[in-house]
Amino acid sequence: MQLGGAWFIAALAVACLGAAGCGPTPISGLGSDGPGPTEPAAKEGAELYRRYCALCHGHAGEGYAADHASQLNNRQFLTTASDPFLLVAIEQGRLGTPMAAYGKRFGGPLGLEEMRKILAFMRSWQTEAPQLLSSEPVLGDPLAGSLVFKERCARCHGERGEGKTAMSVSNPVFLMSASDAFVRHAIVHGRPGTPMPAFGRTLTAGAIDDTTAYLRSLARTVDRATTAGDLPPSFDQVVVNPDGPMPEFPPLRDGRYLAAAVVHRELARGARMVLLDARPTSDWLMSHIPGALPVPYYDANRMSAKLPKDGTWMIAYCGCPHAASGQVMDTLRAAGAQNTAVIDEGIFEWIRRGYPITHGRKPTLGAPIGN
Ligand code: HEC
Ligand code: HEC
Repeated sequence: MQLGGAWFIAALAVACLGAAGCGPTPISGLGSDGPGPTEPAAKEGAELYRRYCALCHGHAGEGYAADHASQLNNRQFLTTASDPFLLVAIEQGRLGTPMAAYGKRFGGPLGLEEMRKILAFMRSWQTEAPQLLSSEPVLGDPLAGSLVFKERCARCHGERGEGKTAMSVSNPVFLMSASDAFVRHAIVHGRPGTPMPAFGRTLTAGAIDDTTAYLRSLARTVDRATTAGDLPPSFDQVVVNPDGPMPEFPPLRDGRYLAAAVVHRELARGARMVLLDARPTSDWLMSHIPGALPVPYYDANRMSAKLPKDGTWMIAYCGCPHAASGQVMDTLRAAGAQNTAVIDEGIFEWIRRGYPITHGRKPTLGAPIGN
C-alpha cells in the first residue's frame, strides 16, 4: 500500500525520535477515579473522534470499520503506546496508507489542542496502568530477522512490511515514533482480539530480537515537499475538461462504484467531470488526480453547496478505498446531486497502475482550503 510518489516529512512537533523518550508516558490519575469519558477534554475529544476517526476505526476504537484501520481500544496497544507515539500518528498519519496526517502543520484539520482532546478520549478506553517498557535498543540480527519475517509475518503485513491484510509495520512514521521495546512487545504479546498473534510462545527470544532489528532496518527518512505543486482549483474552475463531452460510463456497480480504468479512460478521452478527493487535505497535498478538488469527508456538507448542479458527473475517491469517498458521495446525493460515483479501487490502486497523479500546494500556509 506504499505510495509511489515523493515521500515527505518535516520536523516533528511532538518529537519522539529513536528509542529515547518513547516509553509510555504515565498518565496521571489512571484508575477508578481516572479520566473517564466525563472529563471535559475527553468529552470534546469524543465529538472530534466521531467526526474525524470513527469512519475507519469504529465508534469505540474497535477498528476495521474501513480497510485495515487498526484497533485503537486494544489493551496491549493502549498500555504500551506513549502519548507522543499516538500524537505523532494522529498529526503525521502513516504516509502512503489511508491514515492521513490530521495535524494542521501537515495540511490536516486539527490543532494540537484538538489532537490532545482526541488522545484524552482514546485514553478513556484504557482501563489498566501503562506498562513500563525499556528504552534500551533491541540488539538482533536483521538478516536472520528478515527470514523470520518472510516466514511468519509477510502473509499479513506484506513482503517488506508495507501492509497487506494487516496494517503496515515498516511505515516510516511508525518506525520513527515507535521504540524498539514497543515493537518487540507487540510481537511477543500480539494484539489479543485481533488477528495479530502473540509470538512469545512460538518464537525464541533471539528470533524476536532479530525480527525487531529487521523491522528497524526498514526505517526510511522521508521528505515532505510541499513547496511546488498545484493550487486547489477554485469552485468556478472545478470542472476538468470543461469543454469536453459527457463521459460514457457503464451502469455503476451497486449503484455507486466506477472502475478506476473507466474513469481513467474517460479522462484521457477529454470527458468533462469533477473529481473530488475525499481525504483530509494533507493527503491531497501529497498526491491527487490532476484537477481534483479537496473535499474532505468531514467537510463535505459545507462544501457540497458550492459544487456544480448542472448534472456534471462528480467522481469522488479516497484511499480506504470507499469509506471517505462514499461519505462524500452520500452527502452530495442527499443535497440532490444527480450524477455521482466513487472510484471503486481507490487512489492507491490508481497510483499502482501508473495513472497520472500530481501533488498540491497550500494557497497560504495555514489557510484552510476550499473556502
Ligand atoms: C480513512 C480511514 C482512517 C481514518 C478516517 C483515520 N484512520 Fe487512523 N489509521 C487508519 C489506517 C488504515 C491505519 C493503519 C495504517 C498503517 O497501515 O500503518 C491507521 C492507524 C492509526 C494509528 C496507529 C495505530 C497503531 O497501531 O500504530 C492511530 C493512533 C490512528 N490511526 C488514530 C486515528 C485517529 C485519532 C483518527 C482521527 C483523527 C484516525 N486515525 C482517522 C485509517 C484511518
Ligand atoms: C494473521 C495475521 C498476522 C500475522 C501472521 C502477523 N501479524 Fe502483526 N499484526 C496483525 C494485525 C491485524 C495487527 C494490527 C492489530 C490491531 O488492530 O491492533 C498487527 C500489528 C502488529 C504490530 C503493531 C503495529 C502498531 O503500530 O501497533 C507489529 C509490530 C506487528 N504486528 C509485527 C508482526 C510481526 C513481526 C509478525 C511476524 C513475527 C507479525 N506481526 C505477524 C496481523 C498479523
